[in-house]
Amino acid sequence: MIWYPYEQMKTMKPPYEIVDAEGVYLYTKEGDRMIDSISSWWSVIHGYKHPVLTEAVKRQADVFSHVMLGGLTHAPVQALSDKLADWLPGDLDYCFFSDSGSVAVEVALKMALQFNVNRGDRRRTVLALAHSYHGDTFKTMEVGDDEDYHFAFGEKKGVIHIPTEISALEEAFLQYHGELNCFIVEPLLQGAGGMRMYDLAFLKRARQLCDAYDVLLIFDEVATGFGRTGYRFVADEVQPDILVLGKALTGGYIGHAVTVANSRVYQGFYGDDPSLALMHGPTFMGNALACSVAYASIELFESQDYMAKIQRMTKIMHREMAGFSSPKVKEVRILGGCVCLEVHNSAALAGYQEFAKKRGVFARPFLKYLYAMPPYVMTEEQLVQVLSVMKEWFI
Ligand SMILES: Cc1ncc(COP(=O)(O)O)c(C=O)c1O
Repeated sequence: MIWYPYEQMKTMKPPYEIVDAEGVYLYTKEGDRMIDSISSWWSVIHGYKHPVLTEAVKRQADVFSHVMLGGLTHAPVQALSDKLADWLPGDLDYCFFSDSGSVAVEVALKMALQFNVNRGDRRRTVLALAHSYHGDTFKTMEVGDDEDYHFAFGEKKGVIHIPTEISALEEAFLQYHGELNCFIVEPLLQGAGGMRMYDLAFLKRARQLCDAYDVLLIFDEVATGFGRTGYRFVADEVQPDILVLGKALTGGYIGHAVTVANSRVYQGFYGDDPSLALMHGPTFMGNALACSVAYASIELFESQDYMAKIQRMTKIMHREMAGFSSPKVKEVRILGGCVCLEVHNSAALAGYQEFAKKRGVFARPFLKYLYAMPPYVMTEEQLVQVLSVMKEWFI
């Protein structure tokens, strides 16, 4: 029996059974066709069954699907790490692979904490954002700030949460710099914490303060990476010391993620003393199928000018949402390839999923947030359909 995520198993509605998926469409067992408006939790940026990605997986599967990275290496993982080192800004060159975003964030936090241990610096407190979500494993829950997900696991220690306001940021550094190890953020767009959007100026100031007080800056771009905010990576604008990518890394084909360190962080582990090494090693890190498809996905992203596609998507979202209002809707937010309608009361979204399905759209609102994060290959007509269904719900 399957135990489904984030659900009360006794009362959950039966999930839709998907028998096929192609482009932006999901096909159900009953023969319904739905546009996936949320890209399978924001990962399937090229749509389903993309011939180039499918071919990359098949080609590698004919060679080998997996060998461990302990004592072994292979061409797909080397090619992907070289590509990422080239593609990512500055000296974000050192790629540690893992099998999910949560684990990759754990690795980022372990890197940051051990970086200080290795240099004999006792500062261990993590600065994080209010409403942040970084995953469901223990340390990521601790730095996260979402009681709806993590209420059952006790008091959070070793973390300080601040709002996305420059004054709060400056105050936190002034007050706590003597104990701060790192500052972790979902840059510009806080996803699971409520599709909250904030300004680049906050991150620029964060970079300055991290430099001034010798605190590591971590960008969790598991959700925001690969164009979702309208920037290829927010790291292109403000460079963190450690960058975490997941979700869209493989175009949604295979669960995989990467924690990328700059040379200063890498050098903090480098030396003759074995005890300085990073003691982490997921069984499936650098999986050959995942690396092959991730490489093909990045090539597609570049060759098909995805940034232009995302800009076009943002324009359509603004155009379609212009003038929309409802007494039930508190705010409409748009950034890059993300649109969110926040309602005053979560009850206002009860029944939306069925409503949308009847109109050919798959959506999954949560709490007070009705949102879309479409695959970037969505046509104008399909996107207008998604946005129209969202608006129609409130009429
Ligand atoms: C910002 C962020 N970090 C980390 C994660 C965790 O990724 P995963 O679900 O692959 O463990 C998520 C998942 O939604 C996320 O949005």
